[in-house]
Amino acid sequence: MIEIQSLKKVFRQKRKEVLAVDEVSFEVGKGVVYGLIGANGAGKTTLVKLLSTLIIPSSGTAFINGYNIASQDSEVRESIGLAAGTERSFYYRLSGWQNLWFFGALQKINSNDLKNRIESLLKRLDIFSEKDKEFMKCSTGEKRKLDLARCLLTDPPVLLLDEPTTSIDPYSAMKIREVIGELKDKGRTILLVTHNLYEAERLCDRVGIMSEGKLVKEGSLSSLKNEVPTKKVTVRLKNFPPEEFLEKLKVFGQVNTRAERREVEILLQDAKKLSELIGLFNSGNLILESIQTRELSLEEIFIKYTQGQG
Ligand SMILES: Nc1ncnc2c1ncn2[C@@H]1O[C@H](COP(=O)(O)OP(=O)(O)OP(=O)(O)O)[C@@H](O)[C@H]1O
Ligand SMILES: [Mg+2]
Repeated sequence: MIEIQSLKKVFRQKRKEVLAVDEVSFEVGKGVVYGLIGANGAGKTTLVKLLSTLIIPSSGTAFINGYNIASQDSEVRESIGLAAGTERSFYYRLSGWQNLWFFGALQKINSNDLKNRIESLLKRLDIFSEKDKEFMKCSTGEKRKLDLARCLLTDPPVLLLDEPTTSIDPYSAMKIREVIGELKDKGRTILLVTHNLYEAERLCDRVGIMSEGKLVKEGSLSSLKNEVPTKKVTVRLKNFPPEEFLEKLKVFGQVNTRAERREVEILLQDAKKLSELIGLFNSGNLILESIQTRELSLEEIFIKYTQGQG
């Protein structure tokens, strides 16, 4: 559904060149929700703009719904819904309803269908009661919901959502996530740019991590988690162990200590070695007070990859 081949975008500004997207390639199959994560300035929005034909690539190409973003831009635009969080593309003095009506009419949706469509989208997003409010008086969350509603007017097969829940209240964010989940269930193909790793874990089948224009890592969340140590074991002891013992622990992975709390923390390189690790503590005649194991969050894993450890 989305096929990206060595896509590259260089912005030229006076004497400076910015390589915003650097030879990015990946595919998103039909019905897949693909999460794009990465630090500010990594190139995520530029990639979305390239895919939505708003800007032209410096080199490389991409296909959406089988159409080439360079030579078949109108077919591409008909295949996608873009929610880019750009408020400026709405008419400030028109209400939410009037804005959606205008954009729907532009897409030649007949008025009866359009009325029903707008009504059901606004109700689903829980902003029907605000439909007559002028856009400029809407809250950020309401604006974001109108943006999402607009991209769903024609019910396109591919959705490009650039940070649909950033800086809005948790309830509105939850509504938007629910709607994205429903779109996924309906088989829509979704590229979801997000800084919210909880959101990525909840919604995405695959994620790609961008850093400085490059796609530095890609895969299902479980495969990303398999490639880096993701189990953190915290052991509290009756007495803090001697240095030789801590040395022995290092074969299991990175070791951090908090002597004042008599705690040793091991980032297990191989999650299957937990019992072996505990065995080592026992053989060292150390008295364990507690053991806690926890999976690293996607956020912690993400930091590992963008620090170049991936
Ligand atoms: N029109 C432009 N002209 C020049 N440079 C640009 C332009 N648009 C983006 N850039 C630069 O390209 C790089 C990537 O920007 P982009 O907006 O794609 O990042 P992002 O991953 O979406 O970041 P964020 O998480 O902050 O939204 C940045 O260095 C940015 O300054
Ligand atoms: Mg961005």
